[in-house]
Amino acid sequence: MSKGIKIVTIGGGSSYTPELVEGFIKRFDELPVRELWLVDIEAGKEKLEIVGAMAKRMVKAAGVDCEVHLTLDRREALKDADFVTTQLRVGLLDARILDERIPLSHGLIGQETNGAGGIFKALRTVPVILDIVEDMKELCPNAWLINFTNPAGMVTEAVLRYGKWDKVVGLCNIPVNAVFEEAEILEEKPKNLFFQFAGINHLHWHTVVDSKGNDRTDELIGKMYGQEEAKSIVANIKDNNLIFEQVENLHMVPCPYHNYYYYTDKMLAEELEDFKNNGTRAEKVKQIEQELFDLYKDPKLDYKPQQLAERGGARYSDAACEIINSIHNDKRTTMTVSTRNNGTITDLPSDTAVEVTCMITGKGPIPYTFGSFEPKQRGLLQLMKSMELLTIDAAVTGDYGTLLQAFTMNPLVTSGDVAKQVMDELLEAHKQYLPNFFN
Ligand code: G6P
Repeated sequence: MSKGIKIVTIGGGSSYTPELVEGFIKRFDELPVRELWLVDIEAGKEKLEIVGAMAKRMVKAAGVDCEVHLTLDRREALKDADFVTTQLRVGLLDARILDERIPLSHGLIGQETNGAGGIFKALRTVPVILDIVEDMKELCPNAWLINFTNPAGMVTEAVLRYGKWDKVVGLCNIPVNAVFEEAEILEEKPKNLFFQFAGINHLHWHTVVDSKGNDRTDELIGKMYGQEEAKSIVANIKDNNLIFEQVENLHMVPCPYHNYYYYTDKMLAEELEDFKNNGTRAEKVKQIEQELFDLYKDPKLDYKPQQLAERGGARYSDAACEIINSIHNDKRTTMTVSTRNNGTITDLPSDTAVEVTCMITGKGPIPYTFGSFEPKQRGLLQLMKSMELLTIDAAVTGDYGTLLQAFTMNPLVTSGDVAKQVMDELLEAHKQYLPNFFN
């Protein structure tokens, strides 16, 4: 029997954990996870206990030989880990509520990964991830870090650039969802299609080719955008406002987050409407989480409930298991992840993190070469990458001026006094999670 694999999941009390456990159970023959350590912090202890008990029931019901450990001691867990997954949320959902409410109250997009809110999520998260990397250097220097903490692209960039840690893969479910949903639209099996994604997290475009070598991108665009209203492929973005003429002209399919850049006015109007009637997305997520945890408490529940699909991040965790499987077994699966550019997209620096289609090998992701974008995509991409670099720099240095540059540059933040006012309010609101700015 092989030694088996030790996985450590930081933010283990998350409502997404049952999907991760399900993913490991179904791959157990190929990927014998013998130890799963779920780590959380004191404030997440209750959730950790509920979801941890459920994870133990799932493993028992499946009859796999895997020990599930629950702990608040991250360093104890990290010792000799093979893979570390991160799904933490610094400041919990309450911090996300502020990221969404404060910009909205000034008439700006209030979103967890884009605009002002996304910048602040990065400021809170980057120092914590870099601490985790320091612990990994000491306690499990051979481990891979699979990160799905948002903003996933900026977190990957920070790990590569400031953590000086190469064994990192950033994961997002948008490409995963696109493959499933769009294969269905093309009436094909996902395995018969090759999707090539290029860009950065939450700002990428893709093409699709079938197994006979036919480029099916324009057909897909016609089917998605040519008729009635285009549907959204992700639960947290309700409407797809993009119009056929624009997407047709790109000859590439944009990701759902392009709605924020191409149709800022409509997205803002929708957010404000929701804000007035039901509160922000984070408040809705709080309710969904409550319902999920009520279900997880049921001692008879030993499988992932259907309701988890209401969360925007559905399919994340299963994809994480597949990446781990592919690295462990050198399976060379094709998946889209955030990784170092290494010349794949010639419009961006080589040492920067990009989200691209890769072959996941035993030595990590190897990107399929993309080349260069046309000006219609390149402009926004380079702007957003610069914005990300400034945000990460600000997160590490705590420099007010650098942060203001990132704010002013972000297309979802109106520049001038509003930018400064929103930024100051967010700094004050998140003070306790921003030691680099306040110490
Ligand atoms: C999308 C994004 C994720 C994000 C999630 C939010 O799927 O790709 O990065 O975390 O939605 O979902 P939620 O249910 O928390 O609003």
